[in-house]
Amino acid sequence: MDSTEGVTDRDASSSPSPGDGLAPDRSSVWTRRHLLGLEELSRDEIVQILDAAEGFSEVSRRSVKKVPALRGKVIVNLFFEASTRTRVSFELAGARLSADVVNFAGATSSTLKGETLIDTARNIEAMGVDIVVIRHSCAGAALQLSRVLDASVVNAGDGAHEHPTQALLDIFTIRRHLGRVEGLKVALVGDVGHSRVARSNIWGLQKLGAEVWAVGPPTLVPRGLAKLGVRVSHALDEILPEIDCFNMLRIQRERQESGLFPTTREYARLFGLNKERMRRVKPDALILHPGPINRGVELSADVADGPQSVILDQVANGLAVRMAVLFLVGTGGAKPEIAAPGGAR
Ligand code: CP
Repeated sequence: MDSTEGVTDRDASSSPSPGDGLAPDRSSVWTRRHLLGLEELSRDEIVQILDAAEGFSEVSRRSVKKVPALRGKVIVNLFFEASTRTRVSFELAGARLSADVVNFAGATSSTLKGETLIDTARNIEAMGVDIVVIRHSCAGAALQLSRVLDASVVNAGDGAHEHPTQALLDIFTIRRHLGRVEGLKVALVGDVGHSRVARSNIWGLQKLGAEVWAVGPPTLVPRGLAKLGVRVSHALDEILPEIDCFNMLRIQRERQESGLFPTTREYARLFGLNKERMRRVKPDALILHPGPINRGVELSADVADGPQSVILDQVANGLAVRMAVLFLVGTGGAKPEIAAPGGAR
């Protein structure tokens, strides 16, 4: 994709600043109308989103969890695939920014009567929508909408292509816990080849200077990844002691049906994180999972719920990251009014 994809001539303003989220950072501007993927973003743009999310995460700790940053704007969440975390997170993020938020479920829409995705989106846009958040099973669905809509488009997962806000919240969580991303060894374990979470993580982590490992059976880890600078391993046990963060990707059971690995039991034996393997990882290594977890497959229950797991932190951080993304694409990065209403904290 062209690196200028999604850039508009909008009158760019300063973004929210690192840390407190109140003082403007005059050194950076946000110029993109859409968030389609991390492949097209620069390192500075990714850092800008993460820093804006730091400011918005403070809002979630207040007793009144609402700021007027997107008051008067309308957001539609178009979800054509199942989702728990991403859909609820975008819905709450829009509400906390004071936007009007409408949730649209593809399964009960007129697409069942043959309406195309583009016609559906255009009809919804005609009702005065400012931001469209889309999840769809087709890679490129968000890009397609960005080409025909005046509204901003945010990709909430398109086929096996990208899931940019998931990778941003993964990276945000790593940066929060370990204080940096540069120089860390981050392993993406499992079905790397079919994972939009993995693709977005690879782009984002590499741009921020992490060493990315792809770990899994040869059938699930494409050989071409080495050309992108990704380190490849087919033996989790060999690399356990040197990895700083394990991002355990969900195993999609249909991959087993198509013969890409023998059984989930065999997969868990070779690539699952369990108590025994945890004895060999660094004491401060982080365990991440995008969800939904197959307990007993990617992670044993004691690891999923254990002291090194940051899985629920990921979910909490996702809200701040999505507030930052909606705010940046919805306003061009103008300084947000996020002072607590009436001094409430
Ligand atoms: N991680 C993620 O995308 O989860 P959901 O499918 O529940 O949104």
